[in-house]
Amino acid sequence: MNVDKDFGIRPGEKTVDLPTAPDAGVYFIGRIHTPWKTRKACPKNARGSDAVCTVELDPRYAEGLKNVESCSHLVLLYWMDKAPRNLAVQVPGDYGVQRGTFSIRSPARPNPIAMSVVKLVKVEGNKLSVVGLDCLDGTPLVDVKPYFASTDSVPDAVVGWHKKG
Ligand SMILES: C[S@@+](CC[C@H](N)C(=O)[O-])C[C@H]1O[C@@H](n2cnc3c(N)ncnc32)[C@H](O)[C@@H]1O
Repeated sequence: MNVDKDFGIRPGEKTVDLPTAPDAGVYFIGRIHTPWKTRKACPKNARGSDAVCTVELDPRYAEGLKNVESCSHLVLLYWMDKAPRNLAVQVPGDYGVQRGTFSIRSPARPNPIAMSVVKLVKVEGNKLSVVGLDCLDGTPLVDVKPYFASTDSVPDAVVGWHKKG
């Protein structure tokens, strides 16, 4: 694990002992190229920037992009490779209070998988140009899926602890 030195344990945070071995492996299917080289420079969430980013698939998977150009939006899953994986309770900087890892969108989690619904700008060979990312340049890509507004959107969903609901 290549943990970024930006990720220190804050007062009030709690760690767990991780299992000795993972239960499964993943194939990184590509890399995401963004303008952001440091954690501080990154948007906090996927709506924090209008920057056009490039998702570069390993050429072996390029045929898997067939029909993707017909999608206006995609779900991208990516691997927050610089985050620690052993935090059970965190103290997010914006709030300063303890939150359970699974109640927040921190990149620090046992499986550091992040997601974003991105707007697809164009497809060229094995490259996608998209808007709506919040990750460091070079972040590994785990999956690409079509976003279905009909099934994925839950407009009245609530996160009770969050000031904006
Ligand atoms: C709060 S997370 C939100 C992630 C995602 N949109 C989600 O909710 O699944 C976004 C932050 O993760 C951090 N980050 C970005 N890329 C990272 C990486 N490759 N490894 C670890 N942390 C990263 C940056 O601090 C960025 O502001």
